[in-house]
Amino acid sequence: MASITATNHTFSRNPNISFNHKNPLIHSQALNFKPSFPKHALIRCSIRNRPEYTPNHIPDPNYIRIFDTTLRDGEQSPGATMTTKEKLDVARQLAKLGVDIIEAGFPASSEADLEAVKLIAKEVGNGVYEEGHVPVICGLARCNKRDIDKAWEAVKYAKKPRIHTFIATSEIHMKFKLKMSRDEVVEKARSMVAYARSIGCEDVEFSPEDAGRSDPEFLYHILGEVIKAGATTLNIPDTVGYTVPSEFGQLIADIKANTAGIEDVIISTHCQNDLGLSTANTLAGACAGARQVEVTINGIGERAGNASLEEVVMALKCRGEQVLGGLYTGINTKHIHISSKMVEEYTGLHVQPHKAIVGANAFAHESGIHQDGMLKHKDTYEIISPEDIGLHRASESGIVLGKLSGRHALQSKMLELGYDIEGKELDDLFWRFKSVAEKKKKITDDDLIALMSDEVFQPQFVWQLQNVQVTCGSLGLSTATVKLIDADGQEHISCSVGTGPVDAAYKAVDLIVKVPVSLLEYSMNAVTEGIDAIASTRVLIRGENGHTSTHALTGETFHRTFSGTGADMDIVISSVRAYIGALNKMMSFRKLLAKHNKPEGSAVV
Ligand code: KIV
Repeated sequence: MASITATNHTFSRNPNISFNHKNPLIHSQALNFKPSFPKHALIRCSIRNRPEYTPNHIPDPNYIRIFDTTLRDGEQSPGATMTTKEKLDVARQLAKLGVDIIEAGFPASSEADLEAVKLIAKEVGNGVYEEGHVPVICGLARCNKRDIDKAWEAVKYAKKPRIHTFIATSEIHMKFKLKMSRDEVVEKARSMVAYARSIGCEDVEFSPEDAGRSDPEFLYHILGEVIKAGATTLNIPDTVGYTVPSEFGQLIADIKANTAGIEDVIISTHCQNDLGLSTANTLAGACAGARQVEVTINGIGERAGNASLEEVVMALKCRGEQVLGGLYTGINTKHIHISSKMVEEYTGLHVQPHKAIVGANAFAHESGIHQDGMLKHKDTYEIISPEDIGLHRASESGIVLGKLSGRHALQSKMLELGYDIEGKELDDLFWRFKSVAEKKKKITDDDLIALMSDEVFQPQFVWQLQNVQVTCGSLGLSTATVKLIDADGQEHISCSVGTGPVDAAYKAVDLIVKVPVSLLEYSMNAVTEGIDAIASTRVLIRGENGHTSTHALTGETFHRTFSGTGADMDIVISSVRAYIGALNKMMSFRKLLAKHNKPEGSAVV
């Protein structure tokens, strides 16, 4: 069996994988590798320089571009709606993280999306981040002129704009969804890629949707045609998460070996997680020659989600040198924790406690044996350290906060926890912290993170809670009095009865806000142990005159839902804060629609 040496590790080659002799490192050994392990399995890679950006070429064959689609594929998952300001915050955070390409949205889906992508292109697409990094800003478009025009209208303001256009290529999609023949699909793809180039976009990505279930021969043909038409990146989506790693890696290797002109473009992966294989498939694709991977923060996305940025990046960082052919990314992993937290808060999609890398338990060691090992040497049970993702262990922090602590101590503590805040955000957090510290003796890191989420990760306020007073118990109906402040500083007071204190308070809020909504979900958790724990609430609402958008893949109109979170030691206050947060988010959309004179409830497409 042939073998090649990468860095100082020997790999054996899978004879079934087609091999590009021009660039041995691009051929992947990962599907059948036999790594020689160094004495200490733990490896810390240093961040190397990011190669200069040319759409269809990467000077370093080991560099993997990170294409983040949290704001497009991620945001279209149910309940994940973000406001324009939230999207801008996330885009800034992605740029800080070092993401190479930010897919900022699907501009043809709604006026709100178009505006958000435009804003991101102007602001983030012209910003200069760590080490001079300027991210590419990308907009999604179906293969039609209107979508492509909208995408270009939004992304053209960025220094490095990209249009990503797609059409389905599997038999099932072509027959039942598109009702088009193979030839028609090829012609559509070819002409629309050419059209995107003709309007001035020099960076055009093409995706054959459902490639994982498409006939490989047909893929080689259509991909060859779009390369001739000017595509610079070819993305291979496993749209329904159907493939397994060996199969997906082989598909990438086969495309690399059989597509005319492939050496002039970048191959990309886009793996959905329906079988829980998205990270494994993405790595198999990268090992087989893909040099762009499409991922989302926390793995959010359609159905079971996408490959998660943090898993793919940390797998490359942790094992890249040893067993993944020396592949590396330009991500500054120290920003992973805060990015995950921001996306969790803004989308309202909670990260499961045992989620790899960013779950609350990812670095928790509960059993006696593990704790003993950890105390003796951290590497006994940790293959990456929490500090690598910007998470600092509570026990290592010298700062203990109490009611006499000042702003500076709070700021330093938050920085230790990965939150770099200042100015008004720090002031707001400080006053919330003070009011909790008056009542609660021990303020834990989790308490601070909950307050941070409630205070800082909130949508622009339209309504703000000033006071709420409830009476409840078994003797009669609960009653609530609520005082809200509107955006002009005016006070509004109302009272209501309800089946319980939260129901009464929500009804009182409704009497002021006067926007009919349905409460779809309500959940509450105690952040820490004990009777004085902070309660964290999450709600999901939908406006009765629902805000709609067009779904990128199905083309169907869907109703947007809006999430809100709140945190307080008082469960009713926590609940009302969450409800108002969700209402504020919905109202931001309403304002945006009004700005564009679209009637509420209309599909803005
Ligand atoms: O899942 C998919 O196929 C997509 C494409 C648009 C890349 O999201």
